Amino acid sequence: MRANEPLRRLVRETALEPSDFILPLFVCPGEGVRREIGAMPGNYQLSIDELVKECEQVQSLGLGGVILFGIPETKDEIASEAYADDGIVQRAVRSLKRALPELVVITDVCNCEYTSHGHCGKVVGGDVDNDATLEWLAKAAVSHARAGADIVAPSDMMDGRVAAIRRALDEAGFPTTPILSYAAKYASVFYGPFREAAESAPQFGDRRSYQMDPANVREAMREISLDVHEGADIVMIKPAMPYLDIIRMARDRFQLPIAAYQVSGEFSMIVAAARNGWLDRERAMMESLTAIRRAGADFILTYFAKDAARALA
Ligand code: PBG
Repeated sequence: MRANEPLRRLVRETALEPSDFILPLFVCPGEGVRREIGAMPGNYQLSIDELVKECEQVQSLGLGGVILFGIPETKDEIASEAYADDGIVQRAVRSLKRALPELVVITDVCNCEYTSHGHCGKVVGGDVDNDATLEWLAKAAVSHARAGADIVAPSDMMDGRVAAIRRALDEAGFPTTPILSYAAKYASVFYGPFREAAESAPQFGDRRSYQMDPANVREAMREISLDVHEGADIVMIKPAMPYLDIIRMARDRFQLPIAAYQVSGEFSMIVAAARNGWLDRERAMMESLTAIRRAGADFILTYFAKDAARALA
């Protein structure tokens, strides 16, 4: 059954489609800005006008949608721009929904891009205060929904944030806005290039007091189950390829849609190896995405989204 491509196609168990891919995009202040990110070749910090142009391409390639990360004008101790109605992401969502009403726009709900210290929440006594951070997250999610976001995606890893966001959305008149929860998010070295892109590296310490220990699997199931009970509509596992066992176990246990995030470091490793002539870029890209789908992800957040859609065309 492997003798030729038509036979292989007949018995292939996993298929990829452009609509399986969500493209992460970084939006920054200004006009006409298209600044390439050093550690993530082919990815850019985009001003809103450039973002709209990029998303016209995304739509014509038939991708599943985009997820937006904001680089604010100014950062402060209390992450003001994360939940401001005229914040960078809120303005970007309004422009996108006006220009491309059919495009699925997901917003990342977190504080690390907006705090001067680079942590994902309110810092009290040298560490992030979980409960004090919930209010910021709820306000940010509501401001995104008000701007027109189709899905909000909390990535902070505070306990209880899905419940807090669900309640706030319902009270603000957005009972149908779904929550995509970064449910099992590991404290991973593979986020390194992203922190350059989003200018969000922590200024002291690390994120190990709130993101998960890479050694743990049962804890991931507990995290997912908590988020399901709090009202998550989609759960995500992140990173993807080093955590295929987590994706598979979640697929077998939970009925919700499952997303996986092929993170910046996973992307950059393949691109760097390909640039050195050590790997075939397109084959490495397609094999990694196929593996993530095969493990059980319904859709994938990936910096390869556009290239993979072109490869499938
Ligand atoms: C924000 C956030 C991060 C990523 C997505 N949302 C960075 C982090 O937790 O430090 C990483 C995505 C990537 O590496 O592509 N908390």
